[in-house]
Amino acid sequence: MSKINGKTIWLTGASSGIGLALAEALANKGAKLILTARSVATLEELAQRLPGEHSVFPLDLSNPEAAFEQSQALVANEAIDILINNAGVSQRSAVLETDLSVYRQLMEIDYFSVIALTKAVLPQMTARKQGHVVTIASVAGKVGSKLRSGYSGAKFGVIGFMDCARAEMAEHNVQFTTICPGFVRTQVSHNALTGDGSKLNQEDPDITGGISPEECAAAIIKAIEDNRSEVIVGKGLSKLAPTLQRFFPNLVRKISAKR
Ligand SMILES: NC(=O)c1ccc[n+]([C@@H]2O[C@H](COP(=O)([O-])OP(=O)(O)OC[C@H]3O[C@@H](n4cnc5c(N)ncnc54)[C@H](OP(=O)(O)O)[C@@H]3O)[C@@H](O)[C@H]2O)c1
Repeated sequence: MSKINGKTIWLTGASSGIGLALAEALANKGAKLILTARSVATLEELAQRLPGEHSVFPLDLSNPEAAFEQSQALVANEAIDILINNAGVSQRSAVLETDLSVYRQLMEIDYFSVIALTKAVLPQMTARKQGHVVTIASVAGKVGSKLRSGYSGAKFGVIGFMDCARAEMAEHNVQFTTICPGFVRTQVSHNALTGDGSKLNQEDPDITGGISPEECAAAIIKAIEDNRSEVIVGKGLSKLAPTLQRFFPNLVRKISAKR
């Protein structure tokens, strides 16, 4: 049976980048999408243009408690087959120059909102004895590098959350897939937070040299279909980094300090 065709998939961060490419690929495979982000007009235009029947469920994930409350109305009316926690915000600022409030903001969106939405869907998934939670973490959740201390902290954390929830949910037949992309050509560096919380609004050569959002979306869908626990997606050093970190941690520390 197809993991995608005919399935109800709740996708966050659907207005841009990896989420937008995922929305297009999943709709083409026959999924019924619930599209979440803050950009309502973009989501509505997307829902109209994609093949099939889709709905828009706007949320601001910088307030996970409110997002959890708002999600109760959704889960009361929809049986979610797959939740894809894709929305996220990156960072480009040094520890010495980053306000504490920026660390908190990154944690709200990249860590707590994943927990909030996962907790919103788990009661119905455990009751139905089926379901799949997918979270787009990052290679930055495996390897720390400069200017991403808050983002990396949140992504390391979310990988831990996914590992624990996977273990607890195995007996309920709810699957957990963690995706760790390397560099993907999206708006991520434009939207990245700087030390005072403003957006970077700049290209990042690492990101422009990355894989396309469509390639990333295809790899994510394959990971869902193959029911993988964790997949590293990307090319070059960003894809190799987690393996290098595991076997040659001191080498990776030296490279990170030089880059
Ligand atoms: N691109 C990369 O190189 C890369 C690498 C590793 C991991 N990732 C991860 O991949 C995921 C997608 O990122 P992307 O590269 O596609 O970046 P992007 O183009 O900047 O898209 C980010 C998405 O997240 C949504 N979002 C941001 N803040 C939100 C909030 N407060 N509430 C609700 N939605 C919010 C945005 O929607 P609105 O602005 O409309 O709300 C947008 O749809 C993120 O989790 C990111 O950390 C990306």
